[in-house]
Amino acid sequence: MRDIISNFPVEKFKDIQTPFYYYNTDLLKETLAVINNETSKYDNYHVHYAVKANANPTILSIIKDAGLGADCVSGGEVETALKAGFPPEKIVFAGVGKSDWEIILSLEAGISCFNVESIPELENINRIAKEMNKYASVALRINPNVDAHTHSYITTGLSENKFGIDISLIDKVLDKFTELNNVKLIGLHFHFGSQITDMDSFRSLAIRINEIQEIFYRRMIIVENINVGGGLGVDYQNPDKNAIPTFREYFETFRKHLALRPIQHLHFELGRSVVCQCGSLISRVLYVKEGVDKKFVILDAGMTDLIRPALYQAYHKIENLSATNTEKEDYDVVGPICESSDCFGKAIELPITERGDIFAIRSAGAYGEIMASQYNCRKLPKPYFSDTI
Ligand code: LLP
Repeated sequence: MRDIISNFPVEKFKDIQTPFYYYNTDLLKETLAVINNETSKYDNYHVHYAVKANANPTILSIIKDAGLGADCVSGGEVETALKAGFPPEKIVFAGVGKSDWEIILSLEAGISCFNVESIPELENINRIAKEMNKYASVALRINPNVDAHTHSYITTGLSENKFGIDISLIDKVLDKFTELNNVKLIGLHFHFGSQITDMDSFRSLAIRINEIQEIFYRRMIIVENINVGGGLGVDYQNPDKNAIPTFREYFETFRKHLALRPIQHLHFELGRSVVCQCGSLISRVLYVKEGVDKKFVILDAGMTDLIRPALYQAYHKIENLSATNTEKEDYDVVGPICESSDCFGKAIELPITERGDIFAIRSAGAYGEIMASQYNCRKLPKPYFSDTI
């Protein structure tokens, strides 16, 4: 299996306009099989794929066929998930700022749950549901105030973050439910960050959820659904060795540390861990340029195609797929965009590189294609798939 991943069909790449995204659909299917195998050990675990990580229709269709639900954060994502064939009863909708049209669309579609992040939002959903003569099922997104120990831009579970309802406001929120007749509390939602590789962080989240559930029990409330969000990280350093994330340890951490009542279902919203390793950004070397005391490899892919290095100083493994030379040299690998942050990596040791070489920027299946922009009036990168290329 690992060979399939590193064995890029470079010969075929030579005829394709670069930059483009290349997806290994075998790896995606194998990853989904591992997820299904792990969750089948528990009859009350449900995985909703976080559409934000990659909303490519082919990718969504494979994930839908594997039986996962969808986690959406906008009306556009709800529409995209419905179009891809996800059943509405497997769609959840989160996000701090849901517009009226997004709420109407979701109520009309009959999605399973709104993850609600504030009292004004709860009131608004209730008002719209009432006007539509419907009932909205809602989960309260609670800010657990647990540190995910990840990049500050992708930490969401601290009280200083804009996400979720602070636990100190819970009594107020629960009182609100007694006044509102068109919303029904069916769950609690917690998402505290992304690219989390340390299982201790998930253990801390589980323990915190147990404490929070006690507050609800004291008010005689046992919700049917606990949603722990997403966040499981991947190995950006070793995309071939660790092509499939540690799903077993992840699910077991919750089994061991999260105290569920017999009627309760546990939901996960995994994005990155599902799709990250199956995607690579493929690019051509435009020029190799001499600097004062370094050399630059200038690619035809830039931050518009993959923004993660520029935005989060994220590491992605860079490979020269077509090099014939075994001698190595250090290069700064940069894109063509007029921004200094348009850099994929500094002092990267690579085989001696020439104009025309084909590069892969690995682990780009999550938050890659979906975050691409047309800045500098560039064309969006096209997707290609291993089973049809
Ligand atoms: N559920 C909620 C409510 C979320 O906000 C997110 C991600 C997820 C689930 C999925 O998390 P995952 O399993 O993918 O970690 N653009 C950033 C990542 C932002 C994540 C935002 N929320 C990046 O490229 O690293």
